[in-house]
Amino acid sequence: MKEAVENLLETASHEVGGLAEDPKGLDQARIRFLGRKGELAQLFKELGKVPEQERREAGRLLNEAKSKLEAIFSEVAEKARQAAAGKREAIDVTVPGRSPLVGRLHPITQIATEITRIFNWLGFETVEGPEVELDYYNFEALNIPKDHPAREMQDTFYISDDVVLRTHTSPIQVRVMEKRRPPIRVIAPGRTYRCDSDVTHTPMFHQVEGLMVGKGVSFGDLKGILTTFVQQMFGPETGLRFRPSFFPFTEPSAEVDIQCVMCRGAGCRVCSHTGWLEILGSGMVDPEVYKYVGYDPEEVTGFAFGMGIERIAMLKLGIDDLRLFFENDLRFLSQF
Ligand code: FA5
Ligand code: MG
Repeated sequence: MKEAVENLLETASHEVGGLAEDPKGLDQARIRFLGRKGELAQLFKELGKVPEQERREAGRLLNEAKSKLEAIFSEVAEKARQAAAGKREAIDVTVPGRSPLVGRLHPITQIATEITRIFNWLGFETVEGPEVELDYYNFEALNIPKDHPAREMQDTFYISDDVVLRTHTSPIQVRVMEKRRPPIRVIAPGRTYRCDSDVTHTPMFHQVEGLMVGKGVSFGDLKGILTTFVQQMFGPETGLRFRPSFFPFTEPSAEVDIQCVMCRGAGCRVCSHTGWLEILGSGMVDPEVYKYVGYDPEEVTGFAFGMGIERIAMLKLGIDDLRLFFENDLRFLSQF
């Protein structure tokens, strides 16, 4: 037995010693020598065959061998750990770090903020309204009768017979007037929806509604406010014109064109060679609308306007395709 134990220890220290760089081989050797069916376990099994008077000494030898084997293995394992640590690449502290991606506001949000900031400065308070809107606020109370073409299915997303996705921000006018008494000066940005999709139309887009109602508010005030807005937004030299138009909820109505910011009015592809670009619809609030909110048209007058934010953003940022705003391509978005 003594001989067998000595042989085992010698083979083990010989073989295991060279395994510091071979973690797999080290594991296999551990199983071979120390495993449940390993060589040492084999010797323990033979203990039963040893004559009784020698058994005690043999058991002591085997237990000692076990400790020695374990010591051999842990020494080599420690060497392996040190070898691995030595191999780890040194850290080059002069390599520039990776800068974290910083989020930023979507260009539409940036432009909407700029628009509302200008109107806040002019004394308009920012308000909001629901995107899922009652037919009553989106159409009825804006003097858009049941048979008006704007109600046809191709324009409006209907949720049910009398609930729609708002097609413009104008229902907010009615909601505000219902709740408050004049004087009123509010601006209302938000998402709007129409069953529409091509290069210049998307099913979801943004508008900013403006409303001012009070004693003696005139068309002159409308012109003054919108002219000031355009000059603040696009520069003091930007020309604008008021063009007669029609909306069921304003009378008289006007659409506002600004001088094309791409060609400065000379005529180009963007403005279809007219030199002008439409940015908003506006007008004096129709007395019919006051009936729905209980205002006396003999007492108060007011104006309203609604502009497409994407349109303003395209002009301000020099972008010629509306869809770019909604494709969420970071290469596009991170430019602003
Ligand atoms: C209106 O929506 C009226 N509510 C505006 C108004 C308010 C008039 C208050 C009078 C008083 P219109 O349908 O023209 O009007 O839309 C206004 C602007 O929204 C347009 O000039 C355009 O810039 C933008 N717009 C309309 N449809 C789309 C669309 N599908 N995609 C992107 N922008 C759109
Ligand atoms: Mg229009």
